[in-house]
Amino acid sequence: MNTIISGRVRKLVSATLIQPWILPIITAPKVQLSTLPTEPVIAAKKPFKVELIGGKRHSWCACGHSKKQPFCDGAHKTKAQGLIPLRFVPEKDSKAWLCGCKYTANPPYCDGTHKQEFIQSALLPVNTHS
Ligand code: FES
Repeated sequence: MNTIISGRVRKLVSATLIQPWILPIITAPKVQLSTLPTEPVIAAKKPFKVELIGGKRHSWCACGHSKKQPFCDGAHKTKAQGLIPLRFVPEKDSKAWLCGCKYTANPPYCDGTHKQEFIQSALLPVNTHS
Protein backbone atom coordinates (compact mmCIF):
# COMPACT_ATOMS: atom_id res chain seq x y z
CA MET A 1 0.00 0.00 0.00
CA ASN A 2 1.33 3.34 -1.00
CA THR A 3 0.89 6.21 1.43
CA ILE A 4 1.16 9.83 0.50
CA ILE A 5 3.23 11.67 3.07
CA SER A 6 3.35 15.42 3.02
CA GLY A 7 6.67 17.21 3.12
CA ARG A 8 6.09 18.46 6.69
CA VAL A 9 5.29 14.97 7.99
CA ARG A 10 8.27 13.52 6.12
CA LYS A 11 10.57 16.06 7.76
CA LEU A 12 8.98 15.32 11.15
CA VAL A 13 9.48 11.57 10.72
CA SER A 14 13.05 12.10 9.55
CA ALA A 15 13.81 14.42 12.43
CA THR A 16 12.20 12.00 14.88
CA LEU A 17 14.20 9.08 13.59
CA ILE A 18 17.41 11.01 13.71
CA GLN A 19 16.84 13.07 16.82
CA PRO A 20 13.92 11.81 18.95
CA TRP A 21 14.26 14.69 21.39
CA ILE A 22 12.95 17.08 18.73
CA LEU A 23 9.40 15.61 18.65
CA PRO A 24 8.09 17.41 21.76
CA ILE A 25 9.44 20.69 20.42
CA ILE A 26 7.78 20.28 17.03
CA THR A 27 4.43 19.06 18.37
CA ALA A 28 4.18 21.37 21.39
CA PRO A 29 1.24 23.77 21.18
CA LYS A 30 1.98 27.44 20.82
CA VAL A 31 2.34 29.04 24.21
CA GLN A 32 0.62 32.29 25.01
CA LEU A 33 3.19 34.30 26.90
CA SER A 34 0.73 36.49 28.76
CA THR A 35 -2.87 36.14 29.78
CA LEU A 36 -3.01 39.64 31.16
CA PRO A 37 -5.69 41.83 29.58
CA THR A 38 -4.63 44.80 27.50
CA GLU A 39 -8.04 46.43 27.63
CA PRO A 40 -8.78 48.68 30.59
CA VAL A 41 -11.39 47.72 33.13
CA ILE A 42 -14.16 50.19 33.78
CA ALA A 43 -13.30 51.76 37.11
CA ALA A 44 -16.39 53.97 37.21
CA LYS A 45 -19.34 54.81 35.02
CA LYS A 46 -18.81 58.51 35.52
CA PRO A 47 -15.92 60.99 35.61
CA PHE A 48 -14.08 62.17 38.71
CA LYS A 49 -14.05 65.86 39.53
CA VAL A 50 -10.55 66.74 40.71
CA GLU A 51 -8.45 69.75 41.49
CA LEU A 52 -5.25 69.72 39.50
CA ILE A 53 -2.15 71.54 40.66
CA GLY A 54 -0.36 73.64 38.07
CA GLY A 55 3.20 72.53 37.35
CA LYS A 56 2.76 69.22 39.19
CA ARG A 57 2.96 65.90 37.35
CA HIS A 58 -0.20 63.84 37.66
CA SER A 59 -0.56 60.19 36.63
CA TRP A 60 -3.99 59.28 35.36
CA CYS A 61 -4.85 55.58 35.70
CA ALA A 62 -5.38 54.14 32.23
CA CYS A 63 -5.91 50.51 33.24
CA GLY A 64 -8.78 50.98 35.68
CA HIS A 65 -7.25 48.81 38.41
CA SER A 66 -6.00 51.60 40.67
CA LYS A 67 -7.64 51.98 44.05
CA LYS A 68 -6.75 55.70 44.01
CA GLN A 69 -9.00 56.60 41.06
CA PRO A 70 -8.67 58.48 38.85
CA PHE A 71 -4.95 58.43 39.59
CA CYS A 72 -2.43 55.63 39.28
CA ASP A 73 -1.37 53.54 42.27
CA GLY A 74 0.91 51.19 40.30
CA ALA A 75 -1.67 48.41 39.94
CA HIS A 76 -1.00 48.18 36.17
CA LYS A 77 2.39 46.63 36.93
CA THR A 78 0.75 43.42 38.07
CA LYS A 79 -2.78 43.55 36.66
CA ALA A 80 -2.41 45.20 33.23
CA GLN A 81 1.17 45.23 32.08
CA GLY A 82 0.22 46.39 28.59
CA LEU A 83 -1.25 49.61 29.91
CA ILE A 84 0.63 52.48 31.47
CA PRO A 85 -0.66 55.62 33.20
CA LEU A 86 -0.93 58.88 31.33
CA ARG A 87 1.36 61.43 32.91
CA PHE A 88 0.53 65.09 32.43
CA VAL A 89 1.40 68.46 33.91
CA PRO A 90 -1.29 71.15 33.92
CA GLU A 91 -0.03 74.68 33.31
CA LYS A 92 -2.01 76.15 36.21
CA ASP A 93 -4.24 75.10 39.07
CA SER A 94 -7.59 74.02 37.72
CA LYS A 95 -10.61 71.84 38.27
CA ALA A 96 -11.17 69.05 35.79
CA TRP A 97 -13.36 66.04 35.10
CA LEU A 98 -11.05 63.08 34.63
CA CYS A 99 -12.35 59.96 32.94
CA GLY A 100 -13.36 57.10 35.22
CA CYS A 101 -14.55 54.66 32.57
CA LYS A 102 -11.10 54.60 30.88
CA TYR A 103 -12.61 54.66 27.39
CA THR A 104 -12.42 58.40 26.70
CA ALA A 105 -11.01 59.45 23.35
CA ASN A 106 -9.45 62.49 25.03
CA PRO A 107 -7.48 61.11 27.97
CA PRO A 108 -7.25 61.95 30.78
CA TYR A 109 -10.38 64.06 30.39
CA CYS A 110 -13.95 62.84 30.20
CA ASP A 111 -15.45 63.20 26.73
CA GLY A 112 -18.86 61.72 27.49
CA THR A 113 -18.05 58.20 26.29
CA HIS A 114 -19.21 56.88 29.67
CA LYS A 115 -22.81 57.63 28.63
CA GLN A 116 -22.70 54.90 26.00
CA GLU A 117 -24.52 51.63 26.57
CA PHE A 118 -21.43 49.44 26.72
CA ILE A 119 -20.23 51.44 29.72
CA GLN A 120 -23.56 51.90 31.47
CA SER A 121 -24.50 48.21 31.18
CA ALA A 122 -21.08 46.88 32.18
CA LEU A 123 -20.50 45.04 35.42
CA LEU A 124 -17.99 46.82 37.60
CA PRO A 125 -15.23 45.03 39.44
CA VAL A 126 -15.81 44.68 43.19
CA ASN A 127 -14.79 47.70 45.31
CA THR A 128 -15.01 50.25 42.53
CA HIS A 129 -16.88 53.47 42.12
CA SER A 130 -20.36 53.37 40.56
S1 FES B 1 -15.88 58.86 32.50
FE1 FES B 1 -14.88 58.07 30.74
S2 FES B 1 -15.59 59.35 29.15
FE2 FES B 1 -16.60 60.11 30.90
